[in-house]
Amino acid sequence: VSAGPVADAFAAAYGTAPEGVWQAPGRATLVGEHTDYNQGLAITFAIDRCTLVAARRRADGRVRVRSTAEPGVPPGARLADLAPGRVRGWPAYPLGALWALGRAGAPVPGLDLLVHSTVPVGRGLSSSAALTMAVAAAALDLGGGEADLVAACQQAENAFVGAPTGLMDQLTLARAQPGRALLIDFQSLTVELLPLDVGPLVVVDTGVSHRNDDGTYAERRQACEAAAAVLGVASLRAVATTDALGTLTGTLGRRARHVVTENERVRHAAGLLRATPADRGTLGAVLDASHRSLRDDYEVSWPEADATVDAARDAGAAGARMVGAGGGGCCLALGAPAGAVAGAVRRALGPGPSAFAVAPGGGAGRLA
Ligand code: GLA
Repeated sequence: VSAGPVADAFAAAYGTAPEGVWQAPGRATLVGEHTDYNQGLAITFAIDRCTLVAARRRADGRVRVRSTAEPGVPPGARLADLAPGRVRGWPAYPLGALWALGRAGAPVPGLDLLVHSTVPVGRGLSSSAALTMAVAAAALDLGGGEADLVAACQQAENAFVGAPTGLMDQLTLARAQPGRALLIDFQSLTVELLPLDVGPLVVVDTGVSHRNDDGTYAERRQACEAAAAVLGVASLRAVATTDALGTLTGTLGRRARHVVTENERVRHAAGLLRATPADRGTLGAVLDASHRSLRDDYEVSWPEADATVDAARDAGAAGARMVGAGGGGCCLALGAPAGAVAGAVRRALGPGPSAFAVAPGGGAGRLA
């Protein structure tokens, strides 16, 4: 990625050059969905698409934020006035990042910000965490302070925006390495980098949007907490096998079964990735099983995702699954070229969806 175009757009918007450009990538999940807030396991990677933020300090303690996707002059917000629940729409993410850094004790300067994203927005690829982290990284560098970026970015989403998300996106964006997947243990908060050399990885944008603050996500999270309480454990991570779910029935039983089996699938997939070359056929079957569990037990898939997974299989993929929180967004297909997957998906769903190849990329940081 080049910093030039976004620096030029900043100069055109604000009449002066930015002091720097920061970026944070989007993320895909190989397997391990809705496990993070259950102290579970996931394998993720950063995709080679990112959100860029050009920034310049202002002396008056105000923040202006513009996006190349939405031209127009935004009103300046006073840093001192920022409070949870007051900002509507996408500016809640950048402003939430600044609010969270301030709460963490970092000095936050007034800023002019210009955002440009090649991560599809609202499609389960962590566009919100990318925006939040790129802005937080810029503010931290320009303010000369220190703070835990991962924690501040989670606070921005949880406390300022009001989406009770886990740590998967932020940890992935902060710790990603080119060519690697991250095996994340959300109990110990440790990351093991694994080779991700598995042939083509294709993201299909199903053309349906999702949100993390619409209530569904919070409801799933509450169900998991209720299931853990019934079982008398601190989190569903403590449940090693589905045999131990005996007393749970109905909806709670299915939600918990997804989490327990998804952790098992992550362990299985990690073993496959550690042995290079990875057994792509078996890994594909793990992805398929994850999708079925998210569809039938966790009930967060959507019709276009189910059709995409079938179409990817028809196109020769070893496996495919929905990615992210669900209810809309993208799927990930393994082992078939993007063109073949795109063709099969369009035959199944019409011209709405798009498909593109992704490669595991590096983490967030300063670009220029
Ligand atoms: C969203 C959240 C993550 C994670 C996923 C589901 O991306 O931000 O914390 O819970 O959904 O795996």
